[in-house]
Amino acid sequence: MQLEWTHSAEDFAAHAAARVVACLARKPGAAVALPTGTTPIGLYDRLLALAATEQTDLRRGRYFNLDEYVGVPPEDAHSFAAFLRRHFIDRAGLDPAQVRLLRGDASDINAEAAAHDAAVAALGGLDLAILGLGGNGHIAFNEPGADWNSGTHVVPLTEETRAANQAYFADGYVVPSHGLTMGIGMLRRAKTVLLMVSGAAKAEALGMLLAESPDPAWPVTALCGHPDLIVVADSALRPT
Ligand code: PGA
Repeated sequence: MQLEWTHSAEDFAAHAAARVVACLARKPGAAVALPTGTTPIGLYDRLLALAATEQTDLRRGRYFNLDEYVGVPPEDAHSFAAFLRRHFIDRAGLDPAQVRLLRGDASDINAEAAAHDAAVAALGGLDLAILGLGGNGHIAFNEPGADWNSGTHVVPLTEETRAANQAYFADGYVVPSHGLTMGIGMLRRAKTVLLMVSGAAKAEALGMLLAESPDPAWPVTALCGHPDLIVVADSALRPT
């Protein structure tokens, strides 16, 4: 595990962006899984700034979302697909052929999950999984007790996660009860995992990862022992 403590929001975004840039430089056509949430917004801004000054070429990547709400069409502004288009995909001017976003409203949700896995597998698996971290240790929508060998699948969301995500919906929209998520098995097989950890609510979950003792009650600990795990964390979370 490579641990990078960062001292400002700019520094946090710059460290994470440097890892994405390195991955794209290393492998044209790299398969990259993208997170939503507050944590990666600065990363997306930073990547767009680097692309604007030709310090990276974002068109080299192939992008997938990590997760989505079940029942929510990608056109709906509350969807994760819409979040990623707003913060990254549309602003980067990516060709739709470079991007696969889960359809939360697919009539056959299991077939949609299988299609996401097949699209990733066709590229030889994920080259880079960019992850945020939930206060309960979740990665993507893999909640405590999740199977550590799964591919993309449907999960019920915990009340904790639904409450945390409700904060994004100032319009009173109610967070759906289920999510569709890349599974831990697939994330663990990513050649590089970039875990971004910011915010006091993540301290306990980060501590569990740093203890390097795998525990299904803390999904993030499934990453213990990964051969290329990079953790970019806010220095306020540094254990004393
Ligand atoms: P956050 O969410 O970036 O909004 O803190 C992270 C997560 O729950 O995965």
